[in-house]
Amino acid sequence: MEFSYHNPTGIEFGKGKIKEIANLIPKDNKVLVVYGGGSIKKNGAYDQVAEALKDHEWLEFGGVEVNPTVETMNKAAQIVKAEGVDFILAVGGGSVIDGSKYLAAASLYDGDAWDFLDGTAEVQKALPIGVILTLAATGSESNNLTVVSRKTTDEKRMYFSDHSYPKFAVLDPSFMGTLSDRQLGNGLVDAFVHISEQYLTKTNDVLVNDGYAETLYKGLVTLAQKWDERRTLWWQENLMYICNQALNFQLANGVCQDWSTHLIGHELTAFYNLDHARSLAVILPHLLREMIEEKQEKLAQFGKNVFGIENDNEAVIKKMEKLFESVGLPTKLTAYEIDDKVIENVHGAFKSHGYLELGENGTVTLEKVANILNRSMAA
Ligand code: NZQ
Ligand code: ZN
Repeated sequence: MEFSYHNPTGIEFGKGKIKEIANLIPKDNKVLVVYGGGSIKKNGAYDQVAEALKDHEWLEFGGVEVNPTVETMNKAAQIVKAEGVDFILAVGGGSVIDGSKYLAAASLYDGDAWDFLDGTAEVQKALPIGVILTLAATGSESNNLTVVSRKTTDEKRMYFSDHSYPKFAVLDPSFMGTLSDRQLGNGLVDAFVHISEQYLTKTNDVLVNDGYAETLYKGLVTLAQKWDERRTLWWQENLMYICNQALNFQLANGVCQDWSTHLIGHELTAFYNLDHARSLAVILPHLLREMIEEKQEKLAQFGKNVFGIENDNEAVIKKMEKLFESVGLPTKLTAYEIDDKVIENVHGAFKSHGYLELGENGTVTLEKVANILNRSMAA
């Protein structure tokens, strides 16, 4: 067992915690408040931010899209540079947070900041970021991952940088009251798949990770079983906490990982605009079937400890599909309008990104990816 782990993001969890930002952001910083399509004006977050920042100098940038684009965030970088902004406050879900992480680095970079996405350059410095989370799903609020898209080339890519860790994240579940059922279901499934990509690989001796992953899984199973209670505070605060823990990468310490589902899913979003979590729900069960030989032991452990199913991995996968469907997410690609170029498109992107041997054993090849997509498209 060997790893390095340092997560510097401070978490402020609970109703009314937004007022803490008055002290968490230095008084002499000029703040850019970044948000999306306007949901923050309906759930009270905008007004509470304005109140908390009443002694700060601040300006705002709205209009960050779902699946944020560099085209939009580069416009924000111009404002940051022109106005001398020195603190970015992201208010929203994963898209606003990721767009802000990119913005924080792009604002201090002289070249085209897509360089961070295609691996040409590493982030050397970035402005400090703070987060007010309004949607539980990605875990982006306290991790070092940034996922952004480039509209002009239909690409969705990601990079890791320790400069992307937010200084703080305010997790106030009371902002979740305006989320649609679709977003609640998406969040639950995104977290489920985040745990899976750090857990459903090979058996290991890291007792902490397996135990914690199974606890988080069981929490999500309970929330899915109690889907009728999704409008209550206890349900929403548990989802917010679990989603946060599922992807602060603590589960990855000392174990191997398999992010193939996310990498395939990102292409489905880039080409066919599926919601992020929906792109995962149509891949993970089929990937588990395709890679069953390599994953059988861990899948059996998962089945026994999380679902209480023994010696029947197909039943375990079916149960997972039922869980995704029970919160409104289809598990077949045929549920969406996909053309007959899907395999060609995903293959083309994977070749250009060098994703030729994914998975914990490097065995998720282009051929396997085609099989997984075909399984998801079979009747
Ligand atoms: O744009 P606004 O008006 O804010 O509306 C958003 C958006 O339409 C809305 N919303 C957010 N909070 C709300 C609300 N509506 C009502 N009430 C509220 N309280 O929800 C819609 C979806 O928001 P978005 O931020 O796109 O959702 P999510 O948090 O699922 O983020 C998805 C993005 O994160 C990336 C995904 O690929 C995708 O681009 N990911 C980022 C990760 C990371 N950085 O760690 C990991 C993930 O695996 C993922 O790839
Ligand atoms: Zn995800």
